[in-house]
Amino acid sequence: MGPIGVFDSGYGGLTILREIRKVMPQYDYLYLGDNARAPYGTRSFDVVYEFTLEAVRYLFEQGCDLVILACNTASAKALRTIQQNDLPKIDPQRRVLGVIRPTVEVVADISKTRHVGIMATPGTIRSHTYELELAKQSPDIKVTGEACPMWVPLVENEEYDSPGADYFVRERIENLLRRDPLIDNVILGCTHYPLLLGKIRQFMPEGVHIIEQGHYVAQSLQDYLRRHPEMRELITEGGSVRFLTTEQADAFGQKAAVFMGEPLEAERVQL
Ligand code: DGL
Repeated sequence: MGPIGVFDSGYGGLTILREIRKVMPQYDYLYLGDNARAPYGTRSFDVVYEFTLEAVRYLFEQGCDLVILACNTASAKALRTIQQNDLPKIDPQRRVLGVIRPTVEVVADISKTRHVGIMATPGTIRSHTYELELAKQSPDIKVTGEACPMWVPLVENEEYDSPGADYFVRERIENLLRRDPLIDNVILGCTHYPLLLGKIRQFMPEGVHIIEQGHYVAQSLQDYLRRHPEMRELITEGGSVRFLTTEQADAFGQKAAVFMGEPLEAERVQL
């Protein structure tokens, strides 16, 4: 038995953890941010897969039977291989889940024009995972992906509120909507982007709905645990959260506190 493991390349996954804890505060959680090697979004498939597998193994060693990849880039580039090739060898009883499928399930129901935009890291866009998942669910939806290479660095460097961020946020939104003016829903396909939400709302035209995934990922996890009591029984219920980072613990603790709305301490670990 152990906590639910939540993994991200850095701080972004905290936006998912926050939503999961709102829905299921009773469980214990272990968050791991690979801040020393973030961002992942511009890295190759092989590297993101290797880093993510290391993180998953680490969380397994800490006693997590269930790990959430709270990172679109890792979900896009590593989840399937880990589920199909690695888990059967490591321990078929453990589970690794991602954030893309729960997000895709929602958009299929709400788009009226059937034109949907995805804003994500270059890695997620290049993987075409959103398109592939949406094509399975709703083949009638036209998906346009927009890579936003500067958005994660803006968040990681605490520039998400600065006037300098305006240019990078506006140009990507304008570019996406120029490529497909019929888009009525835009998925924020990166867990870092909720931090830029103020700016994104400012530049997104009225009438285009912004889909934040944290809430949907949390609901989907709750539903998964309802359907899988054998997994639910392996999760400890103390209501605690521990934060691990591969970078400096103090800096992580201070910034993570802003995301989580409460003071917290982090520990530095090596994967
Ligand atoms: N937060 C991650 C995502 O959702 C990745 C950010 C990065 O490391 O590039 O895609």
